[in-house]
Amino acid sequence: MNTILVTGGAGFIGANFVYYMLENHPDTRVICVDCLTYAGNMSTLAKAMADPRFTFYKQDIRDRAGINAIFDREKPDAVVNFAAESHVDRSIEEPELFVQTNVLGAQVMMDACLAHGNIRFHQVSTDEVYGDLPLDRPDLLFTEDTPLHASSPYSASKASADLLTMAYYRTYGLAATISRCSNNYGPYQFPEKLIPLMIANALADKPLPVYGQGLNVRDWLYVEDHCKAIDLVLQKGQIGRVYNIGGHNEMRNIDIVKLICAQLGKPESLITYVTDRKGHDLRYAIDPARIHAELGWLPETAFADGIRKTVQWYLDNRPWWEQIVSGEYRNYYERMYANR
Ligand code: NAD
Ligand code: DAU
Repeated sequence: MNTILVTGGAGFIGANFVYYMLENHPDTRVICVDCLTYAGNMSTLAKAMADPRFTFYKQDIRDRAGINAIFDREKPDAVVNFAAESHVDRSIEEPELFVQTNVLGAQVMMDACLAHGNIRFHQVSTDEVYGDLPLDRPDLLFTEDTPLHASSPYSASKASADLLTMAYYRTYGLAATISRCSNNYGPYQFPEKLIPLMIANALADKPLPVYGQGLNVRDWLYVEDHCKAIDLVLQKGQIGRVYNIGGHNEMRNIDIVKLICAQLGKPESLITYVTDRKGHDLRYAIDPARIHAELGWLPETAFADGIRKTVQWYLDNRPWWEQIVSGEYRNYYERMYANR
């Protein structure tokens, strides 16, 4: 039996990855380490908790002694580091936390891997480390050789962790890989992010706050396709290598919001243009040629299907997100959106 340790498994992508691994690898135990910040949710993991191959530890990745004790006990064969502060807007408000978790927390995980016999380490990174691309140059895409050029405290912290991962590979021979994915969407995404926020607000007939003119472009990938790509990198990826993950699905924010209105039968008059995000990246677009050529990965979910499934998931799982938007999230929303 293989043992894989997943950090941040109570969050959006981490939880989808936990389920993906339990379903697709019957010979694998999944150990989840998550300190349950506002973004971590045990109800997301309820089904996994019933599986004898799944173990959960409420544990902060910045706590070296706690992490080492889990490694001693569980003896993982591989580690996938999803744990992070992940929201750009929050990083503009509180950058220090992002450095602590995303950089120093990642370092603790790498040190633990080295100290326990050079355990295979995968760092889940983001296309945001490359900065942004102009709106009027559709020919330009991010490749793995695009220089790091982060714009926000969030992306700078992720870029720092990437640099540290590569330094650990070169200096200590850490058996590491990195993947840099574009924007994910799908079940269990916290409703502070564009797609679930717009779904939740539209269902409540509340204003849909579009930053600036809504012309910024993101490259959307269904979360399960991301999970599958990480699994492939873990199994077949070359140590010391970076893999971009994306499905050539660029869309303007305003078009996504209009699509959600149409799917929910809500009027576009709910759309409200609000003050832009500081330092707002214009466009992201991933070139996934390497992961396709070397590992045979291709996205399987077309955006039209993925967004339909996602909207349906939020309709079918109201208690999951209604509990979130009625709690501490209200203070956050007030802080972020009241005077915008
Ligand atoms: P998320 O915010 O939904 O979940 C993050 C999880 O990490 C939460 O469960 C939280 O409790 C946990 N966590 C935070 N700090 C921790 C700490 N100090 N110790 C232990 N656990 C901690 O994030 P997400 O959207 O699922 O993103 C997961 C990873 O994927 C992140 O590293 C992010 O940078 C990366 N990523 C996200 C996207 C996207 O579109 N969401 C795209 C590319 C890459
Ligand atoms: O590209 C990958 C990144 O995608 C990940 O690394 C991040 O963890 C993830 O949060 C996401 O970052 P973005 O900033 O692109 O996602 P967000 O959902 O916050 O915003 C998407 C776009 O929508 C962005 O251009 C800002 C805009 N937006 C967002 C919100 C929350 C709005 O117009 N209104 C909003 O209320």
